[in-house]
Amino acid sequence: MCPFRGPLNAPLVGPSILSADFTRLGAEVRDVVREGADYIHVDIMDGHFVPNLSMGPAMCAAVRRAAPRAWIDVHLMIGNPADFIDPFVHAGANNITFHLEVERKPVALLRRIKEAGLTAGIAIKPKTPWSALAAVFPEADLFLVMSVEPGFGGQAFMRSSLPKVRAIRKRCGPLRRVEMDGGISPDTAAACRDAGCDALVAGAHVFGAPNRRAAIDAIRGVRGSRWR
Ligand code: DX5
Ligand code: ZN
Repeated sequence: MCPFRGPLNAPLVGPSILSADFTRLGAEVRDVVREGADYIHVDIMDGHFVPNLSMGPAMCAAVRRAAPRAWIDVHLMIGNPADFIDPFVHAGANNITFHLEVERKPVALLRRIKEAGLTAGIAIKPKTPWSALAAVFPEADLFLVMSVEPGFGGQAFMRSSLPKVRAIRKRCGPLRRVEMDGGISPDTAAACRDAGCDALVAGAHVFGAPNRRAAIDAIRGVRGSRWR
């Protein structure tokens, strides 16, 4: 089954490995999967589109080796996403999301990702209006709404992102994913779910939690993964 398409029995929670202990990444990935993570969110940053550098396809391949059955959601915060579709397909990604702000032909790139057998997502930064997504609504499997300025984990949640989620959910219907990304905790997750999010990324509030299973369940709002 593919968690990024079709109906869900419960929202999905995807810990972002940007907040994992990189000295023991494999163990960290296996731990959050064991503790109930529905998928793994891999943040790719190029130091140009966002003011930070993070990791590349090799890290995605390492996550795949660590968790062969995990659903890997790659978030490209880079200025040239078209150059990195094939490397992340080969690295074992299941979904690739790129930013609308950098791509002149987003529909074609979404189609190319899907033709490679993956699901395809489109992301918008906090200052980008949801209406800018108009041309890609028919094509995207997933809509990623940034609730922080992209580039770093551990930032404060921006509530101004919630109305965008409502508008997107109204437009895309119930069978596609609306993902919120940035500053999500057990305290902020309920508002995201109420607005229509069904995929919730959380880095600091999962990897930094004393009890990761409790944090994941609290963010999902339901105990235990329902899609696997
Ligand atoms: C930020 C990334 C997010 C971030 C989430 O640019 O896209 O995925 O790592 O981390 P938290 O949940 O700590 O904000
Ligand atoms: Zn992300």
